[in-house]
Amino acid sequence: MGDKENLIWLDEVDSTNRYAIEHFDELADGVLIAAGCQTAGRGRRGRTWISPKDENIYASFVIKNLSCPAYHTSWLGSLATLEVIRKCIRHNHIWLKWPNDIYCGVRKISGMLCEVKTGKGNSIDGVVIGIGINVNMSKENLSLIDQPATSLFVESSHLYNVKDIAKKLAISLNKFYTLSHSEANELYSCWKAENFLLGKEVEVISENDVTTLGVITDIGVSGELIMDVAGEKRIFMSGDVSIRKTPEFYSLFNV
Ligand code: ATP
Ligand code: BTN
Repeated sequence: MGDKENLIWLDEVDSTNRYAIEHFDELADGVLIAAGCQTAGRGRRGRTWISPKDENIYASFVIKNLSCPAYHTSWLGSLATLEVIRKCIRHNHIWLKWPNDIYCGVRKISGMLCEVKTGKGNSIDGVVIGIGINVNMSKENLSLIDQPATSLFVESSHLYNVKDIAKKLAISLNKFYTLSHSEANELYSCWKAENFLLGKEVEVISENDVTTLGVITDIGVSGELIMDVAGEKRIFMSGDVSIRKTPEFYSLFNV
């Protein structure tokens, strides 16, 4: 697929994920739906993704040919997003916070929301990988976010052409999508290697506010967090917990 065919640009939409799921059947496999702004950008677990006009990437990648369990697709999304961000800025600490947020130092620059498209009889038709990357977002707009966040602009003092970055993202996503078919193990190893918190002590917090302190000893082939909690092995799935940002978390970055 050529550069032009794999990107659909919308000036405004409620949510690119919602759009991609609604139009899933008529969209091509491997197409990226990108929008100038979202009026109802969705984060994980019902949270809101702040999506001001023409400042950032709001995009959803359509996956129809699933060669692996649906949750593995977030790995190709993370690797493609990391690649694009690293091509834009030289920050020496761009990392993946399990399961699929991307940080520059202690500030979040990108988030991802994967949603499964179900068909008749609850069959899985495919997956939509929703990616938000803060591109030209100003410090003022970033300060409206309720956690430390940053943008390519704030990190580099350069303004970027958002559509150009969307094109690069579409190319990168298709590259890792192809890899997911031919080299699934390679995809897993690359994704696991990007998990900076592997080997570190973290606190995880569950939906009902239970916190668990432990060391991340491994990240399993299903993407699960494997932790040593007071000498006991515990396993957490990404849908069930978040890694909490404690003072110890910030001290990993000397802040
Ligand atoms: P986790 O993914 O570990 O659960 P999280 O707090 O980052 O942690 P998410 O659901 O991944 O939660 O992301 C949604 C959160 O991202 C929002 O609650 C808000 O704090 C933040 N957020 C919203 N818009 C933006 C944005 N444009 N850039 C960075 N962060 C944002
Ligand atoms: C998160 O970190 O909570 C995930 C944020 C995902 C945001 C992107 S922006 C494009 C796509 N459309 C949405 O409504 N959400 C995702």
